[in-house]
Amino acid sequence: MLLSQHLTELAAATLQETLGLDERPDPLLRAANPQHGDYQLNAAMALGKKLGRKPRDIAEEAAVGLRALDAVASAEVAGPGFINLRLRPSWVGQQLSAALAAENLGIDPVATKETIVVDFSSPNTAKSMHIGHIRSTIIGAAIVELLRAAGHEVIGDNHLGDWGTQFGLLIMGLREWGDDEALERDGVEELERLYTQAAAKKKDDEAFADAARQALAELQGGDPEKRALWERFMAITREAFDAVYDRLGVTFDEWLGESAYQDRLDGVVGLLLEKGLAKEDQGAIGVFFQELEGDIPKKMRKEGYAPFLIRKKDGAFNYATTDVATILYRQERWDADRSVYVVDTRQGQHFEQLFTVAKLMGIDMRLDHVGFGKILGDDGKPLRTRDGGVPKLMPFLDEAEERARVRIEELREEGRLRIEDADLDEAFKTIGIGAVKYADLRQNRMTDYRFEPDKLVELSGNSGPYIQYQYARIRSIFAKGGQNFEGFTAPIALDHEREQELARHLVKYPDVVHTAAETYQPHLICEHLYEVASAFSSFYGDCPVLGSPEEKSRLALCALSARQLEHGLSLLGIGVLEKM
Ligand code: ARG
Repeated sequence: MLLSQHLTELAAATLQETLGLDERPDPLLRAANPQHGDYQLNAAMALGKKLGRKPRDIAEEAAVGLRALDAVASAEVAGPGFINLRLRPSWVGQQLSAALAAENLGIDPVATKETIVVDFSSPNTAKSMHIGHIRSTIIGAAIVELLRAAGHEVIGDNHLGDWGTQFGLLIMGLREWGDDEALERDGVEELERLYTQAAAKKKDDEAFADAARQALAELQGGDPEKRALWERFMAITREAFDAVYDRLGVTFDEWLGESAYQDRLDGVVGLLLEKGLAKEDQGAIGVFFQELEGDIPKKMRKEGYAPFLIRKKDGAFNYATTDVATILYRQERWDADRSVYVVDTRQGQHFEQLFTVAKLMGIDMRLDHVGFGKILGDDGKPLRTRDGGVPKLMPFLDEAEERARVRIEELREEGRLRIEDADLDEAFKTIGIGAVKYADLRQNRMTDYRFEPDKLVELSGNSGPYIQYQYARIRSIFAKGGQNFEGFTAPIALDHEREQELARHLVKYPDVVHTAAETYQPHLICEHLYEVASAFSSFYGDCPVLGSPEEKSRLALCALSARQLEHGLSLLGIGVLEKM
């Protein structure tokens, strides 16, 4: 059971008994200001009202009962009736020993397991991935792992934008200027060139524009020759995407792009018309929220609020139509309890509309849009290339890794990093990519963040390399002492203040994982890892481990710290090195 749950139950039972209540009250357990305690109980105020007594008196009475608990070292009443609790170190030590011995580090699964589809990365095809896709990819992958660690059944789905109007132009571009050699050599970059050229020509060449529209219609109508071309474009794009995903170490369970739902779009439009949710307006079909009954946010009822369009005048379907079809598919195939969309906040309105439509359709699935902000450059403005374009992902990663490599070599020369020559390549990759991911994930995802390539690799502060470094320090203690790290267990006693400080953080990990998963906030994991790494560093500075009388217990504390660091980093898609 989670620490927070366990303490809640203990406190509830104690309150009921000491105060002679008929029912179990909610003790309202919260994290306390560390100066005052580990936890705070806020129930006395509400109970005071209910019982017609002074909250402070109630709190004093309850505190007496709480002090008698094994888990509690002190219970002090403050202010109008807050109860500040400190946990007993011997009790915390027992919890930690148990967590160290447990397969799951004490992260017990949720009581209600859900099947959750996480829709992430999802770039548009026939273009190379740009900087905008890195956040969805990294944050999405972390959310998949967090939800899995919390005990859910998770399906990671790459909802590629692989069926847009770009294909009509691409087919025409290929016909006009296509060069097999260039296509072989440059792949997706050649596709981009063809597309840009075709898009320019379309502007002042009516016949060309018509032909492109015709080609698109034929592709969508199932013409085998056009279909073969589309497949070729897809294969080329897929190769480029795979290279990025390989580099980032990200995988998907499904690659169900927009094209996978084409057969269902007619049905979706029919269904929405039949339910009276959509209507025709000037040849197009859409959901006009102003005119509907039911549970609809106020702002959607305002005059001038945009409709949710599901079929264009020319009969083509919209992004929205595919997303409705996708929800129905996820229900049908997996009986999914939840769909999570890790997509730029700028698509907020689309998802608000989609979720409202799903609710109006009576779809019983929890739908969450997990948004995120922009990446800013040194000047505090959205990151741009020199010519003002959006930076491509691969060169961005190249540059970040190159900077990391230079810095790692510097740190090696200064004697601050110990990496053997043979391990260097792996270290560049693990530290470099880890630093890029961590720099992103440590931010509250909703805020825009400034990407600072010069600060990527530092062995201090809340950064990936710092966490990896503290992990490697612990591994070297084990190596030096000739102790087996894997499977190390021992009872943990917490006598020294530094041991207690470290333990206070360690004992919260299972709660942190669950909260991070529930709220889709990977940065909570980063905060925890940073606290553990810093507390470990202070502990190790003051408390000798090898050769001390407390060696076994302290090694166990080290082992648990390292296992949390490794586990937490792995949730973020970041690896560790045994030596650094
Ligand atoms: N392809 C879209 C884009 O690049 C993102 C798709 C997000 N997922 C979804 N189900 N709409 O903007």
